[in-house]
Amino acid sequence: MKKFLICFTLLSTLAKSDEGMWMPQLVDALNFKDMKKNGFKLSAEQIYSINKASMKDAVAIFGGGCTSELISNKGLILTNHHCGFSSIAGLSTVQKDYLKNGYFAMSAAEELPCKGLTVTFIKRIDDVTKKVLQNLNQTFSEKQRDSIIKLNIKTIETEAKKNTHYEAFVRPFYYGNEYYLFLTEVFKDIRLVGTPPESLGKFGGETDNWVWPRHNADFSLFRIYAGKDNKPAEYATENVAYVPNYSFPISIKGSKEGDFTMVYGFPGRTQEYLTSYAVELLMKQQDPLRVGLREIRLNVLEEDMKTSDSLRLMYTGKYANIANAYKKWKGEMQGLEKSDAVTKKRNFEKTFLDALASDAEKQKKYTELMTQFEKTYIEYAYLSKQFDYYSECLLAIDGIRYTSSFVPVFAELKKKQNGLDNRFEKVFKESKPSLPFKNLNKATDKKLCKAMLSVYFKEVNQGARPPHLDSLFAVFNGNTDSIADYLYNNSAFIDNDKAKAMFEDFEKNSAEYEKDVLYTFGAAIYNYYQKNIIPQTSYLEKQIAELQKEYMKGLRETIKNKTFYPDANGTLRVAYGKVEGYKGRDAVSYRYYTTLDGLVEKNSTGAEDFYVKERVLDLYRKKDFGPYADKDGKLRTAFIASNHTTGGNSGSPVLNAKGELIGTNFDRNWEGTMSDIMYNVDFCRNITLDIRFTLWVIDRYAGAGYLLKEMKIVN
Ligand code: ARG
Ligand code: GLU
Repeated sequence: MKKFLICFTLLSTLAKSDEGMWMPQLVDALNFKDMKKNGFKLSAEQIYSINKASMKDAVAIFGGGCTSELISNKGLILTNHHCGFSSIAGLSTVQKDYLKNGYFAMSAAEELPCKGLTVTFIKRIDDVTKKVLQNLNQTFSEKQRDSIIKLNIKTIETEAKKNTHYEAFVRPFYYGNEYYLFLTEVFKDIRLVGTPPESLGKFGGETDNWVWPRHNADFSLFRIYAGKDNKPAEYATENVAYVPNYSFPISIKGSKEGDFTMVYGFPGRTQEYLTSYAVELLMKQQDPLRVGLREIRLNVLEEDMKTSDSLRLMYTGKYANIANAYKKWKGEMQGLEKSDAVTKKRNFEKTFLDALASDAEKQKKYTELMTQFEKTYIEYAYLSKQFDYYSECLLAIDGIRYTSSFVPVFAELKKKQNGLDNRFEKVFKESKPSLPFKNLNKATDKKLCKAMLSVYFKEVNQGARPPHLDSLFAVFNGNTDSIADYLYNNSAFIDNDKAKAMFEDFEKNSAEYEKDVLYTFGAAIYNYYQKNIIPQTSYLEKQIAELQKEYMKGLRETIKNKTFYPDANGTLRVAYGKVEGYKGRDAVSYRYYTTLDGLVEKNSTGAEDFYVKERVLDLYRKKDFGPYADKDGKLRTAFIASNHTTGGNSGSPVLNAKGELIGTNFDRNWEGTMSDIMYNVDFCRNITLDIRFTLWVIDRYAGAGYLLKEMKIVN
């Protein structure tokens, strides 16, 4: 009876119905029954098939790290505004500021090519575990195992691509207990079709980021162009709109509380199977340290961004990136604290070990494994802290990150000068930014340097600092401001005029440039951390990964009635749940949807983040919502649901039970950001932009209703 109870509680803590990011090719075997029970109306084959057209053919990786979906048979794709952000910024100039004013092509000829942007589809997914692990011998060292695995992966990828125009990559799942091959098709001629102005796309700015309720129209539209053969081609005027074999129909019927929804996309990274030791380190050290350092950095940037438009523009993208992770970590640590995550993990570990009682040997093995985890994390905590001071404090200073990137440049140049094989030209080109520094203001960076150095010397002990930094500290009598002044007033790297000249004759006068004060400083930091911290950190991370692999194996073997989903790793996944609100904190409950009323309410506070153009308010007053209004006549802007998502899911299609597009995923709620570590269906929610708000902006706000004609809109 007791044993039965133990297993039962173990299961009930794990088997939350809305948790999980599932591999699409396994949905049929693993999730289909449950999805049906929750209201899903289609077949598993309609989600993923390699023989027939299926939804997977309409979901793509957008650029480096977002998701996008096809919404017409002419290659039209939808993603978030924040995913299109850098491409839109790249097309913008002071005269034609598409970020600020928005942009909608009124014909194909006006669609704007985005240099360097790619869109990647998955053609098929195959389990290649056996092949990856073949030729491995028990007696091999870890290093030998690693190199054989790497070699096997290379062979599998090469084999898969052979005689095709596809690309291929293999990824580990369940910490290397399984491996899957992804065959992909990468399109390279992608053009901007439309974007709302930033005041709509990023309405709410940093104030609203990671927070529910939301009102921003976080979308942008692009089109995939292909060669005449419908295959990927480099940009060319004669390329034609790509004709896919599947695109999503769009429903403007809306959804109500309790409705089935699913998200199909490319979640980046989760760590759901961490041990209590890891979670404790994250909550007590890593998150707070990183949050604290970013706060200092953001304050410096904010202060300067307020002083001029040009500084604001220069730092806006950088600021948003720093702020995004900062705010997520902050929500994450609060959420984990509030849910007593460490105790939960500890109890879980105890239950797991207890469940092994019938197998003494196994129980002993896993008890030892837990001890090993504990020991390794004690060692790792110190290194992780040093590493964070390197990456989040010293490298947070642009000038230092920039100059330290020249260490490999000088190394390659020396090889060249000695007549050895070298990659100088390539490395030089990569390190040399487009001059003059578009995204760096010397005075701001100097200020940042002062702020960060002051923390660094206070928090990092003498024995753990690069000796060169200590000697400067001594020379300047411990005055870190003077160190920063000295570096920034005497460096050619950080001075646009001098740097320009320097890069013209770099090879000739390299010996002199190598003595540059800021370069010397950056190089000392780089060399110190590369030698003393990074190898040890990687070594321990490798150890931890090995332990995790065993742990994961143990969990899957022992808890038979639970289906474990693999942590997110940037591959295609399906998450499903319900449209639903949540209880935020004492006495506060959240409704599952927002309306344009809320946008206007926020706007009337007068806060800068809630500015919108007069046209939006005009249309609002006229209640010009057309077919996009809900039954009550209001225009719904966003809704939340219990779909398990993470970074990378931005831009993902959010679908109803019939597989129709009802919105675009773009964020999570503040209370739920902990879901990367521990999902809780009670309050973890993904935030979706209602497709009707998107269509309204395209049609009524931008007057680009012609685009709707190529979509399949169902009512
Ligand atoms: N929090 C969302 C995500 O993780 C949106 C980020 C972009 N928006 C912003 N205000 N920084 O990516
Ligand atoms: N905004 C995130 C992204 O860019 C999605 C939000 C999340 O982390 O869930 O992918």
